[in-house]
Amino acid sequence: MVTLTRRQAITGALGLTAANLGAFSALNAAGSSDYHLRSRLTSFAFGDRPTEGLVSLADNAPPPVLRLRQGKKAVIDFTNGLDDYSTMHWHGIRLPHAMDGVPYLTQVPIARGETFRYAFTPPDAGSFWYHPHCMTLSQMALGLTGLLIVDEAEDPGFDADIPLNLKDFRLGNEGELLEHFTPRGAARAGTFGNVKTTNWRQDPVYEVPAGGLIRLRFAVTDTTRVHKLIFPDVPGRILAWDGHPVDDPLPWPTREAPLWLGPGQRVDVAFVAPDEDGRELTFESLIGRNSPFNVARFRTMGTNLGRRAGDIPDLPRNPIPALETATQPTSEIVFGWSPEGDGTNNGLCGTNAYIFWSINRRPWPGDAVENTGPVATLELGKRHLLRLRNESPNLHPIHLHGLVFRPLRSNLRKIPANYTDTILLLKDEIVEIEVLADNPGDWAFHCHVIEHQKTGLSGFIRVA
Ligand code: C2O
Ligand code: CU
Ligand code: CU
Repeated sequence: MVTLTRRQAITGALGLTAANLGAFSALNAAGSSDYHLRSRLTSFAFGDRPTEGLVSLADNAPPPVLRLRQGKKAVIDFTNGLDDYSTMHWHGIRLPHAMDGVPYLTQVPIARGETFRYAFTPPDAGSFWYHPHCMTLSQMALGLTGLLIVDEAEDPGFDADIPLNLKDFRLGNEGELLEHFTPRGAARAGTFGNVKTTNWRQDPVYEVPAGGLIRLRFAVTDTTRVHKLIFPDVPGRILAWDGHPVDDPLPWPTREAPLWLGPGQRVDVAFVAPDEDGRELTFESLIGRNSPFNVARFRTMGTNLGRRAGDIPDLPRNPIPALETATQPTSEIVFGWSPEGDGTNNGLCGTNAYIFWSINRRPWPGDAVENTGPVATLELGKRHLLRLRNESPNLHPIHLHGLVFRPLRSNLRKIPANYTDTILLLKDEIVEIEVLADNPGDWAFHCHVIEHQKTGLSGFIRVA
């Protein structure tokens, strides 16, 4: 349990207010949970040899896929079974601020043996995910990422629904873990893994019903890799982008025009499996221009279900609020290198000694919020224009908690105007977005290349 002493010490030092601490009373709340998760060290064999020192919520297995239902209250208890501090964050879910799992901004870090009760009602159906937001780099790099599916209030009627958690690991020849942070990587595109997995398996094969309507949910939960997905030539359609059914259709990706999916992003896809039994389809991702690798294969089995492309349903729209446009001028937010290698604040969540990146030329100074103001303050209940400018040559998947936004225009490309929580900014790209500020709080806003996030490319947006 949280002791008063530690709680006072931490909150006193970091300026969390009594209101932020509301969630603590939930610790003692009676009643059972939908899920009780416990983080732990474990081992897993990606190849012939087991890798020790991984982090999961299960023994010798990846973290489970969690399933909630749209509009139904969910209660998830999370027990920290590791020596390091932790929190759990529900990426893309619009929820009350106190349930968002961001240390110092929304809650006190969870110590070993402590349990935090997260309770929220997901308003949106779709593909989301979860990961720690304290010791984020080490715990995610070592395995702690999982899909969080919010099922539509009414079953859309697919014959198979397959979550695909795309994540790399960095392993040596003996299967041992290699360093997941390198200063060289952190200052550039990030430190890449060398074992590319889908649901912790390399080139997995899934059986699907012949002639069936298949839904796939791709989620890039890797700390670094931007996937360039290529789909096989089958009848199909992109259903949803970052959790939300698409308004602006996305083309079926090909080798010539792959679909870029950055860390933190998800895409839901439907396709009709071939009629005959024993056919195989391969979904790939490209490295550079020329080397594709298999993300997953699907093999048909059984007698033909006889579904057709016309049977692919439209997903019901999520309840995105209609808000009037704020009169506030458009703020520009600049993502770039850090002017100085400034010092860092100490916290319990893995403050990094290096600072390479900044937002508006201010690097986030480590874990704590102390003396750090918001990147922007948005009036509650309005829709706001923001201009995001990447002044670096690297890609940055920029993620905003608690709210949805959509891109309106880019200086480099035609950008589909679909609601999202994470946008991949290209080299020197400027994108205008509109943010729906319907949820009050200080919402974390950072790059989802975790080495960038942890070396300065982080901040928060205040909605009040
Ligand atoms: Cu997916 Cu702030 O995180
Ligand atoms: Cu998030
Ligand atoms: Cu970045």
